[in-house]
Amino acid sequence: MAPVSFLPSERLWSISAGELHYVLKVADDGSLINVHFGGRAEFGESIQLGGHFPFEPGLHLLREEYSTFGGLRFMEPCLKAELPGGVRDCVLKYEGHRLIDENGLSITLKDIGYNLLVDLHYRAYPQYNLVVRWAEIRNAGPGPVILEEVLSGAVSLPRRSSWRMTFLAGHWAGETKIVQEELRAGKKVLESRRGVTSHQLNPAVFFDAGDAGEEEGEVWGCLLAWSGNWKCVSEYVGHDQLRVSMGVNDFDFSLYLGPGETFKTPKMVLTHSEGGFGALSRSLHRFERDVVLPRNNAKKPRPVVYNTWETLYFNVNEENLKRLADLAAEIGVEVFVVDDGWFKGRNDDRAGLGDWVPDPKKFPRGLGPVIEHVKSKGMIFGIWVEPEMVNPNSDLYRLHPDWVYHFLGRPRSEMRNQLVLNLCREDVREYVFGWLDRLLTENDIGFVKWDMNRSFSEPGWPDAPRERQREIWVRHVQAVYEILEELRRRHPNVIFEGCSGGGGRVDLGAMERFDQFWTSDNTDALDRLFIQEGFTMAYCPKTMGAWVTGVPNFLTNRFLSLEFRFHSAMMGALGISVNLLELSKNEIEEVKMHIDFYKKVRHIVQDGDLYRLKSPRTGEFAAFQYVTPEKTESLLFAFTLQQGFGKRMPNIRLRGLDPDLAYELDGSGQVFSGSYLMSYGLDLGIRGDYKSMVVYLKARK
Ligand code: GLA
Repeated sequence: MAPVSFLPSERLWSISAGELHYVLKVADDGSLINVHFGGRAEFGESIQLGGHFPFEPGLHLLREEYSTFGGLRFMEPCLKAELPGGVRDCVLKYEGHRLIDENGLSITLKDIGYNLLVDLHYRAYPQYNLVVRWAEIRNAGPGPVILEEVLSGAVSLPRRSSWRMTFLAGHWAGETKIVQEELRAGKKVLESRRGVTSHQLNPAVFFDAGDAGEEEGEVWGCLLAWSGNWKCVSEYVGHDQLRVSMGVNDFDFSLYLGPGETFKTPKMVLTHSEGGFGALSRSLHRFERDVVLPRNNAKKPRPVVYNTWETLYFNVNEENLKRLADLAAEIGVEVFVVDDGWFKGRNDDRAGLGDWVPDPKKFPRGLGPVIEHVKSKGMIFGIWVEPEMVNPNSDLYRLHPDWVYHFLGRPRSEMRNQLVLNLCREDVREYVFGWLDRLLTENDIGFVKWDMNRSFSEPGWPDAPRERQREIWVRHVQAVYEILEELRRRHPNVIFEGCSGGGGRVDLGAMERFDQFWTSDNTDALDRLFIQEGFTMAYCPKTMGAWVTGVPNFLTNRFLSLEFRFHSAMMGALGISVNLLELSKNEIEEVKMHIDFYKKVRHIVQDGDLYRLKSPRTGEFAAFQYVTPEKTESLLFAFTLQQGFGKRMPNIRLRGLDPDLAYELDGSGQVFSGSYLMSYGLDLGIRGDYKSMVVYLKARK
């Protein structure tokens, strides 16, 4: 049976996507109701949508699919619109539907008084247990409509008096840490008001009954593909009904929809698993690799990067880059990335952003000689940029002080000594696209790290018509997306890394345009175990940039062995930012050995399935395992945390292997069956604090 089907007698749509089943129905009063969001179920017989009580609106409205501010509705609306004539009541009724193909469905709703249409789009991805939905608002009437809130959608979880919510929270240099909370009543709002996705919260939330584990139990997931202000409201609306709404944040927002104009919301991704958080993450990871990531690079391995940041900071020049590049090539680096500091007047973070030409003192002959040098060593040249920003101390700002977001006559708050360029303006967009395009056309650059190092403040756009001024939250993100898409189209061989002071802009919308992310400015290999664990809840390891950096770590002052640092970083897209000039001969040999090993096994990490065997949050030890889709190769990473006497690491039982295959350990000739490895496990015998080990398993033919 096709994933999407329609039962005309019941006016019921059924979207069946692997382990996720999503069912919608038109109620007697014409409103569109979510009947089911959960596991596989048979629908067809008459469905009761709930009764009425004298002091409440129709119970079925508690599960309305796209709720509005209008009529007897009191929950978080998906849509709050001001219709012509100052009408702030909007009530949507079923108008029609279209089965696009066997995986796609659109249902159209229309306001009862004005010609405002809402198309709800659904696409099923059965192989990933996932449905993607979004809404399109069309003003088909003669007057203007002001949208004060316009979310991507809301879902109704099965009725339960309590739910556990799992989400990713943190701060700069401590992103994506897993937090769990019980919900019983009221509203829990997660959001960003910073203009970007944010370090503090990430638009990926998971729900379970409180009993799901890594590999067992039912889990629901909702993610938003949007890199600007967002909001996720989990609200108990009564009668044990939890609704989860997600979309562009309505805070300080409004959108003007003239006659004939349309607004398309970001996509909301819904998923469900019967196999705990682990299975849910693995489906998401596969979906990201197969569908979300930019197609041109999706199947290619992520290269081993050398990044100059934690070695040279702003002090880059032709000479020191060449010296570093020689060593980088020697240890096996594939892309040599010059981070911040290369452009005019950039000696610290107080000046230069906006003036995107090589600094004449540091690069009297331009970037050409360095690029040629890097290429002559067999590496790709990469560069850091921060296109959305300007330092007041720059030629660009002196020339165009009106090019930043600001309110007339008000202060312009600086963060990291910089201001945000107003990409809603066409001239600013042209300038930004122009220099980026020229940089990539005139130089042989194969990797761009696109950074974004501050939150928005004073988000004014004085030149815009008043009714459009609060659209900046959406228009800015759209502009970033458009610039990236056009750059990718013109320079298809370039790999783009997304960064926002580390992981401040990690989401599925960014992942459609960036091949990988800079996960966090925190490069302490132990802290990273926590950050990376959370990151992989929602996002695939292929996109998880992870560097090995120097000791003591600049943030934590911690000394960890080179081996531990490598093992931690090898669990994602490996990079190096160690000062190679300071390493001993032995250390260089060790670095070479690790990089060489990573290159041989990176396909397992980058394109395999991840099993989070033991969370570092347990405080004892941590273990992560990767398995190729064919189950013929696997990697096990294990890390001790603090070990007291008598706290010996137990056998680590592997997962995801073929029980009947024989696996050889590290090419040692030692062979174990898959069933043995999964039932009895491996006794790694690691002793001591902060020790680590990687084990490579290969099935024997
Ligand atoms: C941000 C990034 C770092 C580095 C610096 C450069 O903090 O996350 O990796 O690029 O900017 O200023």
